[in-house]
Amino acid sequence: MAHLIDGKKLSAQVLQEVASEVKMLRAEHDIVPTLAVVLVGEDPASQVYVRNKVNRAEEAGVCSISHHLDAECTQDVLNKLIDDLNNDPQVHGILVQLPLPSHLNEEEVIAAIHPLKDVDGFHPLNVGALASGRPSLVPCTPQGCMIMLHQVHPDMSGKNAVIVGRSNIVGKPMAALLLQENCTVTIVHSRTKNIESLCRNADIVVAAVGRAKLINADWIRPGATVIDVGINAIDVDGKRKLTGDVDFESVAPIAGAITPVPGGVGPMTIACLLLNTTRAAKRQSDKT
Ligand code: GUN
Repeated sequence: MAHLIDGKKLSAQVLQEVASEVKMLRAEHDIVPTLAVVLVGEDPASQVYVRNKVNRAEEAGVCSISHHLDAECTQDVLNKLIDDLNNDPQVHGILVQLPLPSHLNEEEVIAAIHPLKDVDGFHPLNVGALASGRPSLVPCTPQGCMIMLHQVHPDMSGKNAVIVGRSNIVGKPMAALLLQENCTVTIVHSRTKNIESLCRNADIVVAAVGRAKLINADWIRPGATVIDVGINAIDVDGKRKLTGDVDFESVAPIAGAITPVPGGVGPMTIACLLLNTTRAAKRQSDKT
């Protein structure tokens, strides 16, 4: 049976580190790391994610300020809010929960956030910095995946890593981070030929497609490490249940290490968001 990489436990350790950093910043520099969270509309999944982020922030001593705009809000109203937050010296990090309602332009919103406050790491300047290997605010989910991978692979040099999914939020930044660790990186997606055999050749598989239980034991080489980024709600016996992109029951008996859903990548993402907020606060105050 695979070693279980416990995201709950690991994220608690990261949050501990954040909490002591926040304590130091408050005591020695009178800085309170502050995160502004912007939610537009009533998407139930986004509401849950935002609530979790705000709750964890409070536990770590990070101040959070929530802005809830209604689903019909205009681009101008959202842009004006971002502008105000950019210019507010009390705010160190800005997170606009995605996806936005379809009449709003996500790209424009992301580009409007000041790069130093872009704790999601989605601004083109931060994307470019990551792609060229310069330190920056790194997207939270891939950052969390890397912390989990380091638990089982202190040295990833020369490993074959396959990422399933090519999103801007996970797949692409994940590829940049694995490359930095000297992995041989392949991204597979809906148009890839021989997707199963490419995955079967991998030492590390990162699943980030948003398709419940897509990846089963036939896709995985015995002993491989499997990181499951998927969070999919499915019906089991009439009840809603969260499941990953990996068929855990099928893969866990043959994998070397695996992350569960829930309790895997999800809590790590939030911990890394607060890590980024603290880093952003330090950098904006020259306390790097
Ligand atoms: N929606 C799903 N994942 C994310 C994320 O990492 N950041 C933001 N802002 N929205 C998301």
